[in-house]
Amino acid sequence: MTNFKEEIAKKISEITNIDLNELTNYIEIPPDTNMGDYAFPCFKLAKTLKKSPQLIAIQLQENINIENTNIEKIEVVGGYLNIFINKKKLIETVLKEINIKTDKYGYSEIGQGKTAVIEYSSPNVAKPFHIGHLRTTVIGGSIYKIYKALGYNTIGINYLGDWGLQFGKVLAGLELWGKEYDIENDSINSLLKIYVRFNEEEKINPELTDVARAWFKKLEEGDKNTTKTWEWIRKVSIDNYNKTYKLLNSKFDSYNGEAYYNNKMEATVEELEKKGLLKESQGAKIVDLEEYNMPPCIIITSAGTTIYATRDITAFIDRANTYKFDKMIYVVGAEQKLHFEQFFKVLEKMGYEEYVKKAEYVPFGLIVDKNGEKIGTRKGNSVFLEDILNEAINKSKKIIEQKNPNLENKDDVARKVGVGAIIFNDLYNSRIKDEIFDWDTILNFQGETGPYVQYIYVRTKSLIEKANYKPDINNVEFDLLLDDEAIDIAKLLYDFESIIILAGEKNEPSIIARYLINLAQKFSTFYNNNKIINEDKKLQEARLYLTYASGNVLKIGASLLGMEMPDKM
Ligand code: ARG
Repeated sequence: MTNFKEEIAKKISEITNIDLNELTNYIEIPPDTNMGDYAFPCFKLAKTLKKSPQLIAIQLQENINIENTNIEKIEVVGGYLNIFINKKKLIETVLKEINIKTDKYGYSEIGQGKTAVIEYSSPNVAKPFHIGHLRTTVIGGSIYKIYKALGYNTIGINYLGDWGLQFGKVLAGLELWGKEYDIENDSINSLLKIYVRFNEEEKINPELTDVARAWFKKLEEGDKNTTKTWEWIRKVSIDNYNKTYKLLNSKFDSYNGEAYYNNKMEATVEELEKKGLLKESQGAKIVDLEEYNMPPCIIITSAGTTIYATRDITAFIDRANTYKFDKMIYVVGAEQKLHFEQFFKVLEKMGYEEYVKKAEYVPFGLIVDKNGEKIGTRKGNSVFLEDILNEAINKSKKIIEQKNPNLENKDDVARKVGVGAIIFNDLYNSRIKDEIFDWDTILNFQGETGPYVQYIYVRTKSLIEKANYKPDINNVEFDLLLDDEAIDIAKLLYDFESIIILAGEKNEPSIIARYLINLAQKFSTFYNNNKIINEDKKLQEARLYLTYASGNVLKIGASLLGMEMPDKM
């Protein structure tokens, strides 16, 4: 697609001999369309050209020849060049590109030949999969899709917490109370009940902790039957997670969790030893990080066991060897910041600094209620993620039944709307902010919500259906789409590719979510102020193509968030 920014930069470069890329980076999008489609801040060149910004602006304006370009006019305002793109060229360029790329519009190739590993979700097996895992699953899932759209070879890893004392607890609980539960037929619920019960009884009877430790030790030592039970618990848990993953459209290429690294940690410890990085401290083996003002990173505890950090270091080295990644992204809650800083430092000290540079810890905020209180974690009150999603689906169904009682496939639509609403709410604000979980906001069809975006999409669909329209770019007269409202949409459509690129650079799906609201609102204005279904068939044809194009981009954008679009609602 014609790159207008680059075209402008080329013109300026021809005159100033300044590097094209540098100039392209300076070009801004003005806050107000009266100030042009693009602006060039000339003060950026004042030093190099040894002239005032105003003078540079005037001289550039005089010398840029806009004949046979896509530039319509250039105005000087202070030290700025305000550049106006030919509207017809803009709309023609963007609609033709959409015609060619259809459902891959906005995709690019900047990741071509590069590998991005994205680790997300990573729940702790045998513990409940509760609402606390929503954010990593949804944010990570979206980042995974965004990198795919950027052309990266993308590997999604679910680094399951499938090793640790929680297994000792479940194993001990199974032995103590197994007979009281219908383990055969209701495995996952029984396991969860046993886990919760164990934690409760442990408070009254602290000796139980030792029993759990003993069980876990047995597991660590590779006892055959215990290992078998562990495998079974792991499988039952994953089967259960998959129900949630299916609802959320989460995909993983690897489920190599913590346990996968059990027999690989010895090599890590040896390597640390050889590189002289391990120190004894109170019976434990640690890597000292005092020079970075961090507490030491424990590698082997005083009990002689490896821990979380040992496994993360091992997993990192293994992934570097296996995937030779260009990016390694960890989507993990903000409370683990120190852990990541520590083990990244240890890896640097080990000599993996080139790979550490490619690693990125992508944290996110908590989920809180309207009053700012953290939800889902108060004991005895853990909210299962699957239940939340099902509640969203049920609530959506009720709304649909009120609004559109004759709708076909109500269940399917309710699923798309309910799940989409939860996903969108999670992704709408920048990820580091706490997410407010409030049903009235989440399911508000008029707000800045998933259902609103879906609703506008459905409107594009129904217009097309009503007119029995088959999009055909060859029948579009671009001259008929030069009004402000159509051009506003065209500009947004034009920006879509750079929006996806930016969302990837910042690992920030909210950039796409906000874009979708913007586009949906612009389309809504266009729709309200223009008769799309029209006696003037040429006008109708042009407007319907823009309608189709808008719906198409809404759908692609939603899919990058993990949201599905209903055709009717
Ligand atoms: N299983 C951990 C938890 O639920 C998250 C794992 C994060 N990833 C990592 N590489 N440490 O808290």
